[in-house]
Amino acid sequence: FGYVNFLVDRTRGEIVDNLIEGLQRLEYRGYDSSGIAIDGDQKGSNIIVKTPGKVQVLKQKIIDDKIERSTIFDNHVGIAHTRWATHGQPMIENCHPHRSDPSGEFIVVHNGIITNYRALKTLLLSKGFEFESETDTECIAKLFKHVYDTNLKAGISLDLNELTKQVLYELEGSYGLLVKSVHYPGEVCGTRKGSPLLVGVKTEKKLKVDFVDVEFPDPKQQAQQDAAINHAKHHGSIPEGLLPLASNESNLRTSQSRAFLADDGVPMPVEFFLSSDPASVIQHTKKVLFLEDDDIAHIYDGELHIHRAKKSAGESTTRQIQTLEMELNEIMKGPYNHFMQKEIFEQPDSTFNTMRGRIDFNNDIVTLGGLKAWLPTIRRCRRIIMIACGTSYHSCLATRSIFEELTEIPVSVELASDFLDRKSPVFRDDTCVFVSQSGETADSILALQYCLDRGALTVGIVNSVGSSMSRQTHCGVHINAGPEIGVASTKAYTSQYIALVMFALSLSNDSISKKNRHHEIIQGLQKIPDQIKKVLNLENQIKDLCDATLNDQKSLLLLGRGYQHATALEGALKIKEISYMHSEGVLAGELKHGVLALVDDKLPIIAFATRDSLFPKVMSAIEQVTARDGRPIIICNEGDKTVSDGKAFATLQVPLTVDCLQGLLNVIPLQLMSYWLAVNRGIDVDFPRNLAKSVTVE
Ligand code: G6P
Repeated sequence: FGYVNFLVDRTRGEIVDNLIEGLQRLEYRGYDSSGIAIDGDQKGSNIIVKTPGKVQVLKQKIIDDKIERSTIFDNHVGIAHTRWATHGQPMIENCHPHRSDPSGEFIVVHNGIITNYRALKTLLLSKGFEFESETDTECIAKLFKHVYDTNLKAGISLDLNELTKQVLYELEGSYGLLVKSVHYPGEVCGTRKGSPLLVGVKTEKKLKVDFVDVEFPDPKQQAQQDAAINHAKHHGSIPEGLLPLASNESNLRTSQSRAFLADDGVPMPVEFFLSSDPASVIQHTKKVLFLEDDDIAHIYDGELHIHRAKKSAGESTTRQIQTLEMELNEIMKGPYNHFMQKEIFEQPDSTFNTMRGRIDFNNDIVTLGGLKAWLPTIRRCRRIIMIACGTSYHSCLATRSIFEELTEIPVSVELASDFLDRKSPVFRDDTCVFVSQSGETADSILALQYCLDRGALTVGIVNSVGSSMSRQTHCGVHINAGPEIGVASTKAYTSQYIALVMFALSLSNDSISKKNRHHEIIQGLQKIPDQIKKVLNLENQIKDLCDATLNDQKSLLLLGRGYQHATALEGALKIKEISYMHSEGVLAGELKHGVLALVDDKLPIIAFATRDSLFPKVMSAIEQVTARDGRPIIICNEGDKTVSDGKAFATLQVPLTVDCLQGLLNVIPLQLMSYWLAVNRGIDVDFPRNLAKSVTVE
């Protein structure tokens, strides 16, 4: 997170508060440690405060350090970071920001992994640099100083953008990074490759935007050129409004764009926010520009300049200023104790929003605007590959069967990392569907790039608007679940599930033989939000069940078959993620091939026995369990006597829906159970140990 004020007087206290607030909104993406870097009182000095632990600990440390708050800056750059450790444990030395040297000439915060950091470290050690941490990031800060000093010795004075370009030239791996320097006071460069970064802009005045187009020389040569000024082609101004709006979004040239002068061409008060997540800027502004890979955003003198670190053939030459639709209350907990709890209870609304305006329930028609033009091509593809990680992967598993049934196209479901490890063959006539809440998961993005390189058609099923995945896929559907902050995914799962079902419905909407099935599913979808509300009423029963039998258990089995196999896997993942109880989702048909050995009168077992064609087979798996003194908790349909009068230790009864949608209802008790197990064990549900919401490293 970065904050820049220009011609806006801000005390150091306000700057620090902005940084801390930004970090708190980002914290769900990593919370091992955090830190900030701001200007010191003496010219050319700076203050770095960092600490292991959550942002709250950093906040306290800033108070304890008695950092002077009243100093006023009319132009200042502050950078900040909250970390999910990849290289080096979460201890003070490894917290960001990292510096080039003890005086902090260059200070960097970084997400991602620099894969050639060992080689860089060897080089920098040989040049006399002394390292303070085990991180890859420290190399970047030191590289900045090394390149800066080398150029200076050769009599070359680089601007910060050119310097950044030269540094990037040496970096391999992924990054979303910010750099500030005592040599460039009031300036910041932000750049990204494989890790998200956006710039939010807040200003009160009308804007003038200069479009400037430049050649793309070799990055090293570029350092010696003052290309921008020579290639100005076109000047335009935005007559009304604060910033160019989404409707006229093609306003900025990527190569070199100058923005945000007042109407009369004079610099104006403006504040910039750099962040890896829109959720951290919306309390300040809704106007954001999402950077692309290899973009360098250079902010100085109240202007934002976008440069390219390197040019690739056929790349887009425009950037969009977008208006975020997110509202502040969507990222606040409201009356709930945890984001996860809020998100579980939001599902009647979030599932409704996924369908809103897309389903004509009277005429059984599904229209997905972002896919419409591509449907004929997808219908002709030879197979569909769904690719995702974690919970998103489970939503693919949950809908694979209905996808194949409706479309009659073979569907395979892949974990992104394994798909890449196998270098799985992909062809031009394949359709690859990427499912992701964040749209930023590194494994999925790499798999997307892999499929794009092989000419496949790519579809994104994504929650975060403006994310890398939603921009890089050819077409797609936003699931519109609203921001999901809880690390354990809940409402995104049910919305992904519905979006995938709608996708399958729209692919097969020309099939006469499927008309009845379409009708049944669409009518079923209409009832889902209300049925979810009913399932949420089970909360007290689930709490009691946890208290009575589950809180102190070490392990838990979940049995499901057919459509409910995915529910068993997703339920087990939820329980592992936040209650740290070992749990395993088992395909009920496989029980007898090994897992049955674990069953005794103590091991808790949850079985999904809702009514579908596989119900008799699930019941026989349950028999196998009870015959070994197992006492299963059974999730069944309301009033199902066959189940409740049998050997169930307890039942959780959910409404009946269409077979392929039943998983939407069956998963909710497991979400609630994992939540209460975690709360009862005193776990901070929104910050489970070792995990992060959005894993932007491989
Ligand atoms: C992380 C999160 C999971 C999530 C997975 C995939 O592991 O903790 O909740 O399911 O990433 O994330 P995505 O944003 O791609 O859906």
